Amino acid sequence: MSLINRLLLQCRSGFEKEAAAEITDQCGSVGIYGYCTLNENDGYLFFHIQQEGYAEKAVRELRFREFIFIRQWMACGDCQQLEREDRVSQIEAYIQGFPTCSDLWVEHPDTTDGRELATFSRKFGSALAQTLRKSGFLQKEKPNKALRLVLFVLTGSDIYIGYSAVANSAPWPLGIPRLKFPKKAPSRSTLKLEEAWHWFIPKNEWDERLAHGSRAVDLGAAPGGWTWQLVQRSMFVAAVDNGPMQPDLMETGQVNHVQEDAYKFIPDQPVNLMVCDVVDKPIKTADMAADWVINGWCSEAIFNLKLPMKQRYQEVVACFNLIAERFMKAGLGYELSAKHLYHDREEITCLLRIR
Ligand SMILES: C[S@@+](CC[C@H](N)C(=O)[O-])C[C@H]1O[C@@H](n2cnc3c(N)ncnc32)[C@H](O)[C@@H]1O
Repeated sequence: MSLINRLLLQCRSGFEKEAAAEITDQCGSVGIYGYCTLNENDGYLFFHIQQEGYAEKAVRELRFREFIFIRQWMACGDCQQLEREDRVSQIEAYIQGFPTCSDLWVEHPDTTDGRELATFSRKFGSALAQTLRKSGFLQKEKPNKALRLVLFVLTGSDIYIGYSAVANSAPWPLGIPRLKFPKKAPSRSTLKLEEAWHWFIPKNEWDERLAHGSRAVDLGAAPGGWTWQLVQRSMFVAAVDNGPMQPDLMETGQVNHVQEDAYKFIPDQPVNLMVCDVVDKPIKTADMAADWVINGWCSEAIFNLKLPMKQRYQEVVACFNLIAERFMKAGLGYELSAKHLYHDREEITCLLRIR
């Protein structure tokens, strides 16, 4: 029987150390102990677990939604060296003793080399899924209980074979949402805000939380990629930036360009949503976001914390501690979610609101 004793964690290439610090903290907090192995810029790493049976416990019980730097994950064993002529039957033999799974994904590292395996992954995945459905290994289960069989391919024959919990892992293969760049948007940054909405706000809450006709403030708005998304939702936007906004956006009549310092701006009346993409010290932005929510200037805030420094994970922890302190002093409960989104670069995106 295959020994499932490690977690395979995917992250943006270059963020392996942050993902390692995060999984070590998360596992430690629920009594799962182990150590990480990684190579910088691989886009994935391992957390080896010392307690038998705990890798499955981890993928079921740790909350994937609380991970920041980890983009996707699964429980697995050692890398399998498969003979190319007979991959399917070797995989079938390996997964005997695995719990039944409801579907199959074949993933690969999101690196220049790894992306060359995308076509192989898709074709091999659909052939293997057919075989496993026929043999009864893949069976429909309730989504909240279902496991997914995952192959993580390094080459056509070096493959990690494991599983993840469907409801407790990324809803997109490799943790990458397929968003199309809107041609009329003024900057590529526009996809960061769109992805943030998909990740942080359940679709059935969009009409209420991103309501048509509601008011928003975009701090550090120029040239207007984020404002463009807000305008698409029929919101009225105060776009705060000394830089120029895209003229087409201004012609919509939904945007008021305010040439002021983002950190000093206070809205005349409360708004539904504040968003902020200013490049500045993360602690300064975290403090400002806390001001907005605690003072009721906005119902919720979506902001980027820029992380050009070496100790990124520690910097994020310091920002979250500051927010915790601010809300404790104010005697308020809050919800804070954070993610290193696919469209983020050296930054993470956060959502903050009163609970
Ligand atoms: C990364 S860009 C924003 C891109 C924008 N979200 C988009 O999608 O097009 C950061 C912006 O923050 C602005 N900025 C930097 N510091 C600022 C400050 N203190 N107050 C207002 N704007 C600021 C810059 O002028 C720049 O336009």
